[in-house]
Amino acid sequence: MRVLLLLALSGCASIEAPLIHGEPGTPLPGLTEDQLLRFREGRALFGRAFTPGEGLGPIFNQARCVSCHDLPESGGHGAEAVTRISHYDPDTGCDPLTRLGGSLLQSVIVPAMREAGLQPERIPREASGVTMMIPPSLFGLGLVGALSEEAILSRSDPEDLDGDGISGRPGIDPDGRLARFGLRATHATIDSFIEEAIRVEMGLTTPEHPDEMLPNGEPLPPGMDPAPDPEVGDAEIGLLSDYVRFLAPTEPATTHDPVGEEIFRDLGCAECHTPTMTTASNDNPALDRKRFRIYSDLLLHDMGRELADICTPGSVPGEWRTTPLVGLRFRDAFLHHGQALDFTMVIEMHGGEASPARDAFNRLSPARKHRLVVFLKSL
Ligand code: HEC
Ligand code: HEC
Repeated sequence: MRVLLLLALSGCASIEAPLIHGEPGTPLPGLTEDQLLRFREGRALFGRAFTPGEGLGPIFNQARCVSCHDLPESGGHGAEAVTRISHYDPDTGCDPLTRLGGSLLQSVIVPAMREAGLQPERIPREASGVTMMIPPSLFGLGLVGALSEEAILSRSDPEDLDGDGISGRPGIDPDGRLARFGLRATHATIDSFIEEAIRVEMGLTTPEHPDEMLPNGEPLPPGMDPAPDPEVGDAEIGLLSDYVRFLAPTEPATTHDPVGEEIFRDLGCAECHTPTMTTASNDNPALDRKRFRIYSDLLLHDMGRELADICTPGSVPGEWRTTPLVGLRFRDAFLHHGQALDFTMVIEMHGGEASPARDAFNRLSPARKHRLVVFLKSL
């Protein structure tokens, strides 16, 4: 990993700038009245249950965004895991199985489908990788979106030129843009992620994708979803995006332990989990040159066989975007699949580029391990 030394000798106010944060679910400080109004309207839409009459389904996972992003408040992480699949072949690459219904399973169907004797999606035989994915927290995502591309690219080192064993490369979306959102760094913007979430989690068609999803790729019998397409418009997508964009990142607990944080850096955890970043200049004063805790470089890393399951068109099995470590104190299940129930398990599952950090952790005295865990629990 290559880190640019950005410290100027004098007059570098952003280094000293206070860190931005708020209570879980609250808006960023410094929003205008109009923006606060959009935040509140967006939150209402995020919490609203869509009905089949409005276009929900015919295959879907949940009727509301908040069903999956509700802990400890609206906009947070969730306990409702989804199932993701893919087929990987080292010679031909990643197949997201679009012809068989795509990489996300929709496990619920509307009553009209049930009455017609149809089933929710099943895992097709062609899937070579299957995983559960737990919904991440959305707190602070607007600040992530306001980082310059350079702030992210300056940390990448795909060929590991500095020879520290940590490469890290940026995710790239299908249009060739730098992708910073999603657990696999698949999306360039909050808007594009949300446009997809509306479609694939709720079965609502959009102006960009006005066609219904097909269960495991099979044609839909007529009359399963009579709502006219598109079922939501750009106005709704914009409102949801503003809500997510304006959510503040959370603050560590008062037990925040500087010694624990030092151990975190000494072990090499911060080589990927970059503690703080600062946004670029922005027309919106609430996002303009703001420093915030992120504990992520937003890059893809090879995490080894322990975490290898699905692939995406832009990443091979085992590659994951460094997860931001914000709001850990509200959580009790970790890693993309939620299978690690405490921080020792989390670190044990760090392989690949993170093996040296894991091995360094294993060599710590019990007392120092404890200090590190106390620090993680405070975030
Ligand atoms: C059935 C559960 C479920 C529902 C419903 C759901 N999400 Fe998510 N959400 C997830 C999961 C799982 C991920 C991680 C997926 C990934 O990264 O590929 C995610 C990721 C996200 C992200 C990207 C987070 C990041 O760190 O980059 C955003 C933004 C988001 N969801 C917004 C929404 C919005 C808005 C809605 C409603 C339209 C919604 N979600 C509905 C499960 C859900
Ligand atoms: C090579 C980069 C890298 C290094 C070094 C690294 N991590 Fe990670 N970390 C990741 C990635 C990538 C994930 C996401 C893996 C997944 O979900 O499958 C992750 C996930 C985590 C999580 C789970 C977060 C969540 O929300 O579920 C914690 C906690 C964590 N790391 C702590 C640490 C600690 C402590 C260290 C040092 C001992 C460390 N990491 C070193 C890349 C790294």
